[in-house]
Amino acid sequence: MDRSDYQSLDTGAVLAELGDLASAFSLVHLAECDSTNTRLLTDLPPDDGRVHVVAADVQTSGRGRRGRVWQSWPGASLTFSALWRFAPGSPVPAGLSLVAGLAVARTLEELGVEGVQLKWPNDVLVHGCKLAGILVELTPGRGRTPAAVVGIGINLQLPPDASVAYPTGVTDLATALGRAPDASRLLGLLLVQLHRLFDVYSAAGFAALRGAWQQRNAFADLPVSILGEVETLAGTCAGVDDDGALLLRTADGLRRVLSGEVSLRLA
Ligand code: BTN
Repeated sequence: MDRSDYQSLDTGAVLAELGDLASAFSLVHLAECDSTNTRLLTDLPPDDGRVHVVAADVQTSGRGRRGRVWQSWPGASLTFSALWRFAPGSPVPAGLSLVAGLAVARTLEELGVEGVQLKWPNDVLVHGCKLAGILVELTPGRGRTPAAVVGIGINLQLPPDASVAYPTGVTDLATALGRAPDASRLLGLLLVQLHRLFDVYSAAGFAALRGAWQQRNAFADLPVSILGEVETLAGTCAGVDDDGALLLRTADGLRRVLSGEVSLRLA
């Protein structure tokens, strides 16, 4: 696929999908940028009460978790970041990336995708293959309103020769739905879900969304190994706690694993 045969994002259509919520967002669409997360972190938008969103058709230096690269081809994925500011005292950052994953899962389900599951902390799988990834990065608070850049990449239609390394394989929405969905509609629906769920999260913490996350837990009660920076833990996945930490049932009892330290593989 080259630049001429894919549909670029239509900001008017995204705002139309947002309906009454449109005024809560500022939306910038770029044909190309290094990374939408980097863009928001380096040019911090004003705290004007809106959620600032940057979406790009192509990223030249897309970033994933733990220093990985998020690869980009024109039209292959929906890539955007949103700067969310939370009221002082909100439960940031614990659980935030899990909530973002839940918002992606619900949006995909709304579009009719079957077999959507969540892999802690924040990969979105369809029938076991990775369909979307999330990178949450916090901006230094220093007494100001805490803010988080929530970057999301969703595979729309990967090129046939795309080679993306992932232990259980990758997939895209064209495969899951039989056709690539309209990216503008997808972004609009997802922003609505994020807005809804981050409101719940700010008010009641991850505990209020824990059940919904666990219903979609790809590894519930399965043997897993957690590859950490310094040690590897083996056990059975016992879900997540009220803070969004992973619970691992091991020979030595229940261990609590915090986001960002580990990756999870089916043993
Ligand atoms: C991962 O799976 O490791 C996370 C991938 C996150 C990719 C998205 S694409 C939009 C935003 N900009 C980036 O550079 N990364 C995130």
